[in-house]
Amino acid sequence: MTQNLADTSRPAAPAAESDADSSAANGAAGRGWWRDAVIYQVYPRSFADSNGDGMGDLPGVRSRLPYLRDLGVDAVWLSPFYASPQADAGYDVADYRAVDPMFGTLLDADGLIRDAHELGLRIIVDLVPNHSSDQHEWFQRALREGPGSPLRDRYHFKPGKGADGELPPNDWESIFGGPAWTRTVDPDGTPGDWYLHLFAPEQPDFNWENPAVADEFRSILRFWLDMGVDGFRIDVAHGMVKAPGLPDLGAHDQLKLLGNDVMPFFDQDGVHAIYRAWRRILEEYPGQRIGVAEAWTPTVQRTANYVRPDELHQAFNFQYLGTSWDAAELREVIDLSLDSMRPVDAPTTWVLSNHDVTRHATRFANEPGLGTQIRTPGDRELGLRRARAASLLMLALPGSAYVYQGEELGLPDVTDLPDEVRQDPSFFRAEGQDGFRDGCRVPIPWSGTEAPYGFGPTAGGPSWLPQPDSWAGLSVEVQTGDPTSTLELYRSALTIRRSHPDLGAGESVEWLETGEHLLSFRRGSFVCTVNTGSEPVRIAAPGRILLSSTEAVAVEGETVLPADSTIWWAV
Ligand code: NOJ
Repeated sequence: MTQNLADTSRPAAPAAESDADSSAANGAAGRGWWRDAVIYQVYPRSFADSNGDGMGDLPGVRSRLPYLRDLGVDAVWLSPFYASPQADAGYDVADYRAVDPMFGTLLDADGLIRDAHELGLRIIVDLVPNHSSDQHEWFQRALREGPGSPLRDRYHFKPGKGADGELPPNDWESIFGGPAWTRTVDPDGTPGDWYLHLFAPEQPDFNWENPAVADEFRSILRFWLDMGVDGFRIDVAHGMVKAPGLPDLGAHDQLKLLGNDVMPFFDQDGVHAIYRAWRRILEEYPGQRIGVAEAWTPTVQRTANYVRPDELHQAFNFQYLGTSWDAAELREVIDLSLDSMRPVDAPTTWVLSNHDVTRHATRFANEPGLGTQIRTPGDRELGLRRARAASLLMLALPGSAYVYQGEELGLPDVTDLPDEVRQDPSFFRAEGQDGFRDGCRVPIPWSGTEAPYGFGPTAGGPSWLPQPDSWAGLSVEVQTGDPTSTLELYRSALTIRRSHPDLGAGESVEWLETGEHLLSFRRGSFVCTVNTGSEPVRIAAPGRILLSSTEAVAVEGETVLPADSTIWWAV
């Protein structure tokens, strides 16, 4: 299944600092492109469909790269496009060195990387090392060869408990609901051992104690680095090492404990040795290649462990993503994030949306505290106003920011998808009580008045999830040139962020004293003021308005900061 590509010369990654700068010894802002990069997440299924089959693909992404360059982002992170049966939308990889035919070919990936580099964009690919697909050759052979097969030790195959092994080996629960173990059938047809899957049964967990697993992933890293990618977003980066002996957790509803406790299957200290080995590989390559941890940990301090100087370069800041639209809470998490990353000399990252959570325009449209799987649209107008303000706040903070495709259009989640079109495995494992990730994965609108709104080549053509009629008014085409649109707000913000000497990388902000519901901070000659309250507030204008998330005018030294708004100032 592995596709091969005879290489030739390839365009270098965008020119940046010297390669020596990628080492851990680097100093302040500007010492590595990732320290202030705006990284745009492309979810390939839903970005652009070149062949009209209703599913986005790599040629589609490639054709839209100029849009991303013009938007003003620095890098593109692509969710998985590898050979996969798509039990979890590509996070179940059957062949780590092949492109799934539904997304294209390795040649398409090569062309995409080359084009991106020519446009000055870097490419980060997703790496899924915690588990493979159950269709991966190793797992299939392990099943076929039965007990005693050396391939079984590359996964967690264990005998069950109970008189006949009829009970799972321990009490761990799958993140997608139900037990984290599935029983196998031996080649002779009798019930056999169980295997561990922290996610869907189609996603067996690798056993990282087996050296063949570590060898294979080092080789996969090199394969994609040789293809020219600029980095990896590491899926479930906190999951690969399990507590010795796979002890019981002794609790039910384990999903609710995530984020509060260190679990025997997450955030084990042993995982860091893997990243130290990977860092050495990344540094063998020219051009500052990076690793980004998707690590859900109980505290920001524990997240910082993943970005110690000899480990990965960035980690997602999920504590920030989970924060309500509330000035006091935001200030606390901003301080905590900056304070936690400073000792390890890693940039703080900021993120509001991704393919696993309700889009922030919908999150902020609902009452706080509902979590990140919301199925009610809430007050759309309010949600969009807050989303625009939140985006300006995020882009003003020191460090690197992640933008999820479509947030620059102000897209809401699609909360009313009928059950029959849903594909998220966690929706089915939780019997429809949870797992509404399809709502943020609906293909994005580019142009035209009829679905799929330029996502595919033909008006009236298919899209793998249906788009709402209202999205005709949210397309890139409609928003381009409209100074009040969210797209133009992002374009302006990213232009200012690139050119302003005090924006981007940094380690701290200087808080300015303000009132309740207000946030105000200074970074050199730049000030950001935010009103998270529902009433307008009159403030002394700190300078000249650079950009505002809603209409705001500074007159005679004073300005009204509208409800749910952010203003950028030159001071
Ligand atoms: C995190 C990914 O972002 C998510 O989409 C996936 O379902 C799980 N990891 C399992 O790979």
